[in-house]
Amino acid sequence: MVTRLRDGWMFLLGIVLCFAILKVEGVKREDFKACAQSGFCRRNRAIADEAASSSSWTSPFELVSKTLTVKDNAVSGYIKNTKSSSLLTFEVQVLQNGVARIRINENEPIKPRYEQTAEWTLVSNLPAKTEAKIIKKSDNEAVIPMQVPGVESASMVIHAKPLRIDFLVNDTPVLTLNERGLLNLEELRRKDEPKLVDQSDSSESKVETGEWEETFKTWTDPKPNGPESVALDVTFPGFSHVYGIPEHASTFSLKETRGGENAHSDPYRLYNLDVFEYETDNPMALYGSVPFMVAHNPEHSVGLFWMNAAETWIDIVKTTETEGFHLFKHKGKTSTTQTHWISEAGIIDVFVMLGPTPKDVLKQYISLTGAPAMPPAFSIAAHQCRWNYLSSKDVAMVDAGFDEHDIPNDVIWLDIEHTDGKKYFTWDYAKFPDPEKMQNELAAKGRKLVTIIDPHIKRDDGYYIYKEARDANLFIKTPDGNDYDGWCWPGSSSWIDYTNPLAREWWIKKFKFDDYKSSTPALHVWNDMNEPSVFNGPEITAPKEMIHHGGWEHRVLHNVYGQIYHGATAKAVSVREETPKRSFVLSRAFFAGTQRYGAIWTGDNTASWEHLRNSNPMLLSIGLAGIPFNGADVGGFFGNPSTELLLRWYQAGIFQPFFRAHAHIDTKRREPWLFGEPWTTRFRNALVERYKLLPYFYTLFHEAHALGVPVMRPMFFEFPQDERTFALEDQFMVGPALLVKPVVNEGQTVQSIYLPSGPNGSQIWYDYFTQKKVTLPSSGQEIKTTVGIEDIPVYLRGGSIVARRDRQRRSSYGMVYDPFTLIVALDEEGNAEGELYLDDGETFDYEKGAYIHHRFTFKNNRLTTQLLNTEPIAEDYASVMHKVRIERVVILGSKQDNGKLSKVVVHDPKGVTFDAGYKISKSKIVVRDPKLSIVESQWRLELKYQ
Ligand code: NOJ
Repeated sequence: MVTRLRDGWMFLLGIVLCFAILKVEGVKREDFKACAQSGFCRRNRAIADEAASSSSWTSPFELVSKTLTVKDNAVSGYIKNTKSSSLLTFEVQVLQNGVARIRINENEPIKPRYEQTAEWTLVSNLPAKTEAKIIKKSDNEAVIPMQVPGVESASMVIHAKPLRIDFLVNDTPVLTLNERGLLNLEELRRKDEPKLVDQSDSSESKVETGEWEETFKTWTDPKPNGPESVALDVTFPGFSHVYGIPEHASTFSLKETRGGENAHSDPYRLYNLDVFEYETDNPMALYGSVPFMVAHNPEHSVGLFWMNAAETWIDIVKTTETEGFHLFKHKGKTSTTQTHWISEAGIIDVFVMLGPTPKDVLKQYISLTGAPAMPPAFSIAAHQCRWNYLSSKDVAMVDAGFDEHDIPNDVIWLDIEHTDGKKYFTWDYAKFPDPEKMQNELAAKGRKLVTIIDPHIKRDDGYYIYKEARDANLFIKTPDGNDYDGWCWPGSSSWIDYTNPLAREWWIKKFKFDDYKSSTPALHVWNDMNEPSVFNGPEITAPKEMIHHGGWEHRVLHNVYGQIYHGATAKAVSVREETPKRSFVLSRAFFAGTQRYGAIWTGDNTASWEHLRNSNPMLLSIGLAGIPFNGADVGGFFGNPSTELLLRWYQAGIFQPFFRAHAHIDTKRREPWLFGEPWTTRFRNALVERYKLLPYFYTLFHEAHALGVPVMRPMFFEFPQDERTFALEDQFMVGPALLVKPVVNEGQTVQSIYLPSGPNGSQIWYDYFTQKKVTLPSSGQEIKTTVGIEDIPVYLRGGSIVARRDRQRRSSYGMVYDPFTLIVALDEEGNAEGELYLDDGETFDYEKGAYIHHRFTFKNNRLTTQLLNTEPIAEDYASVMHKVRIERVVILGSKQDNGKLSKVVVHDPKGVTFDAGYKISKSKIVVRDPKLSIVESQWRLELKYQ
């Protein structure tokens, strides 16, 4: 009876909560903490205030120089807290690729502090350490030399009293730790023990500390370990732009947070939260967190990775020399960015990356946190989702809709309503009587199905997943040892503790075809709500005092929970067949390292122009933080977009890395043919363009996999010396060759675009669609173009070669054996180059050489190629691809002063020479069928002039 009553109440509560989640318009700011409502943020900000307000402020931390030793290629020693006299351990490792790792921990904590973020985040094969060397200059100064490829000299200079660490590249300081003296590590203590530090002179006495218990709205965080925060300031001398630390709906170049023009008033917060219908221009935490920042100026790029998975706040302040920045003089540089990193728990474990270019910094970051997974080919094509496609009939109708209207599509998605009562891995068989048949029908057209699997498990004894997890003790626990019981879509739920290796092992089995009933190889997965979202939890997430495997509080690892879950699912989907295949798993929550597992999207945006605009800076930040496979709900999740907005969103989305149309359950249907002509054609045209460019996108995903460079790139990645690109966030590069500036305003008819001039001032640009050379105005590099409703401003950079597949099919699968078109856009000197990477798109055979990687070069009127394969193309793959041709070569910008083109000669790999047909109009030459196989490289195509 009691249980029934309780269930009844819980049910009601659930209805109310779900109603709140579904209907509330706009973010409820008051559901989420500001820094002032978070004790550890307040305490550390108070230290910063005290430091700023007193000219005599010095850090209480000193390095005990005589303790510095070198062992196992690491430099270690002790730091003394002069206020408490206690010791901290200090360790420095220098890695061979220009990265330094600095760890600071309590020397003898009363219990261990959480250091395991490294386990979830770092790859096992970190770059080798350099032979550690320490040059003691004086009692107060020691130098550790660093090797940075591409840089003449680099070093780390440690000042002992007070502790300060400067990083120098070619004698220029580029990053300083503890320059402002804000290093703080709250030592663990027992509640009844007094603090070792004399409180009377401490800033903390002036703030309400919230050290042992803290209340937010109706929730009380009991904080059994008391205060345990860690903090450090990081200064980027000479840098006025810093980027990264997603996820925030804010500007790409990060704003100041403690005063200044147009600043945010709160620090940027990293705490994975379910913030539906979030506000833009806001540093509030969102679904994912990557505590990685890049600073860039025309000479240098540096990176800082703060490896901590607890709640984190980051303050940013910018100063100029005239304001009296006191440490360094920077020739010709005016601005310096000071940042303050504050985490609730854990240790200080930071990595400094010395670049020197933005691409180098990303490469260094990826060497730590792992290469982005090579996605299965279908997953970079178009996805069609909605909450919810209601039945298999509905799915069949949508599927057929694409074909009837000649619109390509690769994937149809099923949201939570496809399950039996939100019990994941089950089907509502009344609506989906034969899921296998449904998948097979999609698969017959080369299409896939994605189903949603969330981490909350309905507490229902009749549900096998719940019973198995409960019996095997795999759920997150309450402090008193019970399974944590919270509220989510299914009602009363428990959450799998993926930090438990047994839970991951078990989870992986749940995706085997005989376990996940009615699933087939055509099914891939969507991991949602994995921040984790808990409707009746503090800030809509799990209480921090919940307990994970090993006795760790949720507090210490909250931000990495969703990443671990994502990783387990990606593994599970990949190993469900005998021969592992690449999985596609989309996650909402993310952390450093997420890139190893799959894609992420930016959660519950709205169908507004503002959110369309916002998608560009958000995705640029996420890509810069090492997660290249990212996208936003195309069309906007909440609300009904106007047809114009929807079309403009498609036109932007096709150039963003992950394209998925998605919509809330309460919205009107918006499949792209529902608006009638001429709209259907317009939507089709946009999607067809993405499909043509799939070879180029796939090549970029491979580059991201190999080097970490984002697919959707900030302008400064390609033009690192051009300061005018540094704050650009409404235009971006897709790879090195395409510049895109989507139309993101209602009724817009003119678009201005900044076309950088390149280092030697002679960059040519072509309009991607008309293929005509752009004439720049005499006033500079900014052009204006009229934009009709079908126009997407896209420009092709002179000097690049882009591979396309121009035949329209209904899915990417249908294009596997289609021939290629090469677009050769010449630069001022008549040269161009570009790459094409190709593999089977689904297995891991590329690791064994089953791929083709061309570098095409056009020079001296000749097109040639070099295979970049590190080993010969695996024979079976070569034989499968042998018949695939290059069917067309389009050369843009050929010089009139070459004379008259008399013929195009092809020298094929067998030594046969023949003339190829061509058409020439002005400076564009289209060579037809040069009869070249895509697996071969020993050929050349030559333009002969009279
Ligand atoms: C929240 C997700 O952000 C949204 O995309 C999804 O449709 C709903 N959950 C329902 O599963």
